[in-house]
Amino acid sequence: MNLAIIGTQWGDEGKGKIVDLLAPNFDIVVRYQGGHNAGHTVIIRKDGVDQKFVLHLIPSGITHPGSTCVIGNGVVIDPRALLEEIAELRKKGIAVTPQNLLISNRAHLILPYHVALDRRVESHRGSNAVGTTMRGIGPAYEDKMARRGLRAGDLTDVPSLLEKLSVNARQANSLLTHLGGDPIDENQLLADGKQWAELLAPHITDTTYYLNDESRKGRSLLLEGAQATMLDIDHGTYPFVTSSNSTIGGACTGAGIPPAKVGTTIGVIKAYTTRVGSGPFPTELHDKLGEDIRAKGNEYGASTGRPRRCGWFDAVIARYAVMVNGLDALALTKLDVLDDLAQINICVGYRINGVETAQVPFDAAAMEVAEPIYETMPGWQQPTMGISNFAELPEKAQTYLARLSELSGAPFAFISTGPERNETIIDTALLAKHGLELKIN
Ligand code: IMP
Repeated sequence: MNLAIIGTQWGDEGKGKIVDLLAPNFDIVVRYQGGHNAGHTVIIRKDGVDQKFVLHLIPSGITHPGSTCVIGNGVVIDPRALLEEIAELRKKGIAVTPQNLLISNRAHLILPYHVALDRRVESHRGSNAVGTTMRGIGPAYEDKMARRGLRAGDLTDVPSLLEKLSVNARQANSLLTHLGGDPIDENQLLADGKQWAELLAPHITDTTYYLNDESRKGRSLLLEGAQATMLDIDHGTYPFVTSSNSTIGGACTGAGIPPAKVGTTIGVIKAYTTRVGSGPFPTELHDKLGEDIRAKGNEYGASTGRPRRCGWFDAVIARYAVMVNGLDALALTKLDVLDDLAQINICVGYRINGVETAQVPFDAAAMEVAEPIYETMPGWQQPTMGISNFAELPEKAQTYLARLSELSGAPFAFISTGPERNETIIDTALLAKHGLELKIN
């Protein structure tokens, strides 16, 4: 049985914890879009001591012996970032081998000129800057769509790689200098290219055939999404989005598997909303309460350390995410962050230029002026941290959750009440209905 995990808001919903919890139940864990703009924290136990580690590109299955990790064709890979991540994992005693980490030969590369271009283009946008992670994600996807990108498979043919790198570097340098930036050092790039080829080639293969063959043999796939529905290039708050399809269609195109193989789809959603970078956010709290939620929820970017903007749960976008991704269930995270509040708001609609709507507008400018219409619920003002049994939750927390589920249009398969694996309420009956018999340790 296969399972896809999708972000439902603007990212940072806590997908990492849910994927980490589920990974031991699957044979193969696949990342299918985005790049090292994502970041998710996993706990690695070494010599009896828990160490936190942030993964950016490598699926979290890497910490579980027996899992195979695949970086799919839809991902954009910065070889420097990937090699650093591999080196860090090895330092922590985690084996990373050509057997447990496979890289699609069709995945595009992020090269140093993409990072330089990301910076230049963002500074040219001025007050309309997207607030990117500056990792070169957008420019690398631009090259992919312009049909001039270099792919991981190019690292397996060094003479051709050097030729392509040279042509692309010259083109990028003329654009960079035109934008007032410094050109990148072509000779250094060629020297680096040779080294990346040597180190990464053993991991590079045709993962499309691999995934379909293994799936046919009965091995299960966990499809790990990065970013989220509202950051999707097509369905998010364009242009304040990332450059890939982080909704469910991206799992098919980014892994090379047909829709029927996607299986069950679970959306991860926070009990409130956060966003990093620019762009509309109707339920954003600009007051002390927003700051308190940031402090209690430790809402700082795992990749960039930037403070996240915080706000109330927005059922308009939750319902949209359930619709666009066909979510079978939700995994709610960070319920405990709301424990102290006397009253909790839920956004049930928007008023845009005086007109009420329950739909996400296509236009970021309309979303920018959307006034949230709130329903207010009483807070439970009791600790929920660590509770792993639904019946033990305060009654008011149960009522809040029931209302969120009703408004979103999907049931909760998981409710997370803390960072540890056992701090999770799991609806095993609901998962079993979808053919998922999970062993959670
Ligand atoms: P890019 O993906 O670096 O081009 O950034 C585009 C937008 O997506 C910016 O607003 C980023 O802050 C946001 N973004 C990209 N990756 C993540 C993520 O993993 N979590 C949250 N926001 C992200």
